[in-house]
Amino acid sequence: MNLLAEIRSRFADVLAQYVEDPSGLIDLVRRSQDAKFGDYQANVAMPLGKRLSRPPRDIAAEIVEKLEIDDLCEQPEVAGPGFINLRIRDARLVDLLTDTAGDQRLGVPRVEAPRTYVVDYSAPNVAKPMHVGHIRSTVIGDALVRTLRFLGHQVIGDNHIGDWGTQFGMIIYGYRHFLDEEAYAKSPVRELARLYRLVNQLVEYHACREKIPELKQQIAQLQGELEQSGAEAASGDKKAKKARRRLESRLQELRDQLREAEQKVAAVDADPMLAELARQHADVGEAVLRETARLHAGDEENLKLWRQFMPACLREIERVYERLGVKFDVTLGESFYHDQLPDVVADLKARGLAVESDGAVCIFLENSPAPMIIQKKDGAYLYATTDLATIRYRMKTWSPDAILYVVDHRQSLHFEQLFAVARKWGYTDVELTHVSFGTVLGEDGRPFKTRSGDTVGLEGLLDEAVRRARRVVAANDDAKPGGPELSEAERDQIAEVVGIGALKYADLMHNRTSDYVFSYEKMLNDRGDSATYLQYAYARVRSIFARGNVRPEALYEAGASLLLETPEERGLAMQLLRFAEALEQMLADYRPNVLTAYLFELADRYFSPFYDRCPVLKAENPRLRDSRLLLCDLTARVLKQGLALLGIQVVEKM
Ligand code: ARG
Repeated sequence: MNLLAEIRSRFADVLAQYVEDPSGLIDLVRRSQDAKFGDYQANVAMPLGKRLSRPPRDIAAEIVEKLEIDDLCEQPEVAGPGFINLRIRDARLVDLLTDTAGDQRLGVPRVEAPRTYVVDYSAPNVAKPMHVGHIRSTVIGDALVRTLRFLGHQVIGDNHIGDWGTQFGMIIYGYRHFLDEEAYAKSPVRELARLYRLVNQLVEYHACREKIPELKQQIAQLQGELEQSGAEAASGDKKAKKARRRLESRLQELRDQLREAEQKVAAVDADPMLAELARQHADVGEAVLRETARLHAGDEENLKLWRQFMPACLREIERVYERLGVKFDVTLGESFYHDQLPDVVADLKARGLAVESDGAVCIFLENSPAPMIIQKKDGAYLYATTDLATIRYRMKTWSPDAILYVVDHRQSLHFEQLFAVARKWGYTDVELTHVSFGTVLGEDGRPFKTRSGDTVGLEGLLDEAVRRARRVVAANDDAKPGGPELSEAERDQIAEVVGIGALKYADLMHNRTSDYVFSYEKMLNDRGDSATYLQYAYARVRSIFARGNVRPEALYEAGASLLLETPEERGLAMQLLRFAEALEQMLADYRPNVLTAYLFELADRYFSPFYDRCPVLKAENPRLRDSRLLLCDLTARVLKQGLALLGIQVVEKM
């Protein structure tokens, strides 16, 4: 059972006697941060007092009077200015946890009203190497899919891959001009990736050369503005200071762009062969766009090449998904919607939502800095057009209650506009949410890149994480008091689970909207907030059973009962009961870090002191021993289930 939800519903009944809609107040019923103040705390009397102009303590006392919660809690206490502190009755705690122990779902009820969710996640642009940015969408999306499903919702995981974009123009161009047939026969993917990188490099070379003078001019202009604003800011005016900071950060951005552009140009110029290619292919940028346009127009030859390339591209991303243990229900990429785009544009026009403007077809929106363009002057469709077709298809096919887009924060404006258009188009009954996330940063605080300046490839990242995990696992095994216990093969297998788990957890543990700094050391720190720490905690519990030669099932068969006598045992029991709460809270805002925080707290703040202070196998008597074993087993089960919902595995020994 979800205790918090239960307590809140009891409060809701009482609060309804004070306000028409208690839903805003109900959030103020929470778990207590400190056991001193009980298990839960209601801070509703203060805002009510203000609203009703009455002393909050009086209101608190009155609420306590009216509250029907006797069966669950001890007599509530009113503290301080009007806090209501609640402590779950010990007998009730034992009953509830006993139910939890006997429940496959560990006390997490299925939702009463299941919804249908489409989760749009991962969505790499195929034929380009996948990079670290894609891990966030993949890992966050996967955790949401698993958790929604566990709670009983219907979920369609949809990988909306970019399989129709300019990168294919690049590969087609590359294939026609630079193909190494032998290499292609050996490994098509590798050769295609090489072609992509080569053509992309040439395109960027010319684009950067064009951009550099412009950037320099913009920088000079900003510097001028900044000098002028210096005097005003020095006068201490807050607004002026703020404006100045904005100018400074804009200047920094431009300087970064300039540096990057200059590096790109220099890299080609420094390589005689590349420089020669760049000279020969001076109009590569236009040519690539032409190839893409021909593909989109249904040109037979380009389509044939596209069909030839796709299977290898798909196999390539599939390899990464297999390694990450991620499965999609459908993979309907941009190409799938291509044929539907003319009709989407026609329909939006017919409804008067889209209008021609300067030859392009646009949708104008109130409060939006720019219109959404759905067809360019030259007839080309855009990313937004495809996304509109996708919404229509999803609504028709699955009639979802919600569509979640797990996509990085730089696309916020796109999704704001997309959702606004969808509403006007008549899709008013569906929740549309951009589950946005921040950037993965390197130790230098800039977007994570390798030394050569390439964004880090995803596979290289996985390999490195596993390699380092292997070292951690080996060192820990070597340090065991009775000597190492794991075979080489076991170490390999554990390293894969630990390495991949560490990578996923490091991503999930951060509030998704923040940027975070990527660090192998932190992610594999077996003493800190990491998957590794939780996996060790799990294995430690399992080793207690191994040492005691006890099968967990035997405990249940024998009907072992719980004794919660010390604060450590009681604290652990309470935290175990809160699993359902954590899941609900995680989904309220689609934030997996709520679950990682819960699991870390379970292991670190509750299990660890319990294990330090309450002897298990050496407990004073068999009843106490069995009770403690039960708490251990429940901890392991919740850890395992919780990690599984995050897409992270455990191992029985490590
Ligand atoms: N392929 C896009 C990218 O890499 C992400 C697509 C997200 N999903 C969507 N329906 N727009 O930027």
